[in-house]
Amino acid sequence: MLSWDDEAKPAQQPRTPHMPQPQLQPAFGNPLNDAALNPALVSRDAPVDTTRRVNAADKRIINGHTDVNQLVPFKYKWAWDKYLAGCANHWMPQEINMQRDIELWKNPNGLTDDERRLVKRNLGFFVTADSLAANNIVLGTYRHITAPECRQYLLRQAFEEAIHTHAYQYIVESLGLDEAEIFNAYHEVESIRDKDEFLIPFIDTLTNPEFKTGTVETDQALLKSLIVFACIMEGLFFYVGFTQILALGRQNKMMGAAEQYQYILRDESMHCNFGIDLINTVKMENPHLWTPEFREEIKSLFLRAVELEYRYAEDTMPRGVLGLNATMFKGYLRFIANRRAQQIGLDPLFAQEENPFPWMSEMIDLKKERNFFETRVIEYQTGGALSWE
Ligand SMILES: [Fe+2]
Ligand SMILES: [Fe+2]
Repeated sequence: MLSWDDEAKPAQQPRTPHMPQPQLQPAFGNPLNDAALNPALVSRDAPVDTTRRVNAADKRIINGHTDVNQLVPFKYKWAWDKYLAGCANHWMPQEINMQRDIELWKNPNGLTDDERRLVKRNLGFFVTADSLAANNIVLGTYRHITAPECRQYLLRQAFEEAIHTHAYQYIVESLGLDEAEIFNAYHEVESIRDKDEFLIPFIDTLTNPEFKTGTVETDQALLKSLIVFACIMEGLFFYVGFTQILALGRQNKMMGAAEQYQYILRDESMHCNFGIDLINTVKMENPHLWTPEFREEIKSLFLRAVELEYRYAEDTMPRGVLGLNATMFKGYLRFIANRRAQQIGLDPLFAQEENPFPWMSEMIDLKKERNFFETRVIEYQTGGALSWE
């Protein structure tokens, strides 16, 4: 396969460096034989080599052999559409007013100790999570994907991950939190460290310079890492944290931070959906990878992830706060895990679970909930319909 640092090689005939040029006849003073006076003569170029032109039907998500530098003709229109929607949703953290959050945080009576713990542990996970996500895309996934329209979306996604890290850093700075404490939480807080340690082997697989797809074993390793990243990291591990901060916002607390998270949630929802489309297309193009053993392994990863995320919920809310408690999240995580499993063609993992936080799905659609927090004044949204799916 071609990767981003490979030289693109001709698909068939190599191009001859010194192609013979058509010979012009001596002019002998006849204006009809003079190339400068008769343009018909200069159009007698060598025939154009069209053998390297890309045929959309030849494109593949992995292990493709078409030129990755040629975005069109499109085959995976869904990836291009998501790229356009991502651009239409552009936002920047500094546009959101953090003044009321700063006043609330500095007021000794503004928040309870449990609420402060929740905010710090919440940021403790997110400040490094999106750097992990960005590195996974740029140093890992991107190299192994051979469809240029999917690469185009991944470039947009990578920038969005940078914006998310920026947003979390901006909240930490605005509130005057101890940067060392928050940015080292992924080493120092067990419930956060356990989530990251679960993820890192899958990121390491893709970012290992020696790793190459092309065998059943390595293609399954890639598919597994794509599933862990989209369905478990972006699709599950973010949701306790998002719900907590958005619940604060619903109670008119930390509304600037909540608005930042609302924009991040919308982006992440699209990242997750892109990842699911990517996974399902890889499955469709390579059905031999989706073996019963492989499916069992994915199920066990989901079960382990639900357990880790539940432990994180307990750690961030040891006593219940904001009308939320860890037990409510148990049902929520099972509901989300079922949904993710079904989205990639697995059976539900748990008995029918209800969504205890139906308001979360409204949070994703900023067009409907335009003035929910009433703090943002700039409108970027020009298209890109979003839905929970
Ligand atoms: Fe992100
Ligand atoms: Fe993401």
